[in-house]
Amino acid sequence: EQIEKGGYEHFMLKEIFEQTSSIHDTIRGRVSPQNKEVFLGGINDVIPKLVNARRILIIGCGTSWHAGMVGEYLFEEFARIPVEVEYASEFRYRNPVIFEDDIVLAISQSGETADTLAAIKLAKQAGATVLGICNVVGSSIPRETDAGVYTHAGPEIGVASTKAFTAQVTVLTMMAMLVGYRKGTLPKEEYHKLIDEFAHLPEKIAKILEKDQDIKELSKRYIESTNALYLGRGFLFPVALEGALKLKEISYIHAEGYPAAEMKHGPIALIDEHMPVFVAATKDKSYEKIVSNIQEVKARKGHVIAIVTEGDTVIADMADYVIEIPETLEALAPLLTVVPFQLISYYIAVLRGCNVDQPRNLAKSVTVE
Ligand code: G6P
Repeated sequence: EQIEKGGYEHFMLKEIFEQTSSIHDTIRGRVSPQNKEVFLGGINDVIPKLVNARRILIIGCGTSWHAGMVGEYLFEEFARIPVEVEYASEFRYRNPVIFEDDIVLAISQSGETADTLAAIKLAKQAGATVLGICNVVGSSIPRETDAGVYTHAGPEIGVASTKAFTAQVTVLTMMAMLVGYRKGTLPKEEYHKLIDEFAHLPEKIAKILEKDQDIKELSKRYIESTNALYLGRGFLFPVALEGALKLKEISYIHAEGYPAAEMKHGPIALIDEHMPVFVAATKDKSYEKIVSNIQEVKARKGHVIAIVTEGDTVIADMADYVIEIPETLEALAPLLTVVPFQLISYYIAVLRGCNVDQPRNLAKSVTVE
């Protein structure tokens, strides 16, 4: 096992660090900066259906559901297709409305999650086209679906998903770009800009990982926390959900992810000097809004740790701690902002003495309902 961990103390840390290469593996042969093209062989034949889709239903559980939430923002932004993101367990039992021309997109790292499989079967019976985004080649979900795209993140051993999440979001981004471009809703210049930026993601993740020891230091401050709040807006709202999930899964600290503006309808009541508030606050179109959300937290003595774009002095002056990450395009920001959240959870859990690779009560793959 020590050999498999490749010198890292835990699989989770190894898998966080592997994201520089796993993202590269996910895009390899699919995004070509030379030809300025995205090509997804697994779904090539269904692209016309996607271009004409009236709606897309995205289905998943856990972290895969969070990736699906990012997918919603991506498909709506690039391809102007309405998207519903569904928990597989709810979808399968609530007599959902499924149209024959619906595209159902099932997301699963393992390809074996029982609820997701059952939801797929239901969608197929209703006549919808079902596509999969899975990591484990040859697993049940890719066999059940009409077509799909493998994430190629490599085996993920840590129960808390890290590199599979970024690979899922990468695939969703490629899909939404491709469909949007073919449909004419994503202008050529933007499509090309995204393609060019993709090539820089691995090096930008590497830059974030260089801050590993600083993040470890920072994490020491929160090992006694009993609650934490994660905030984000737009594309970064699902990242806030994922950040909170990572912390509770492995450190057993109660954490909630919230859309930053929704905080005033509840969680703000919990904020005091004992509450760490992790904010994904990179420069995008809701930047000014998130700055005022940070002010609202500070006014209640909350302790703010913000993930910001390199060189941001405005938030640095307000927050208790900032983690700078390289600038990227707004739609690609989830792929970078999630990385510091993964590291923070990892270090808080390790410092609390938790078993990060096999947290209590959790399974890597939930094959029963
Ligand atoms: C379990 C795992 C999570 C995972 C979820 C969905 O809860 O612990 O890490 O996100 O199942 O699994 P899937 O394999 O379908 O992505």
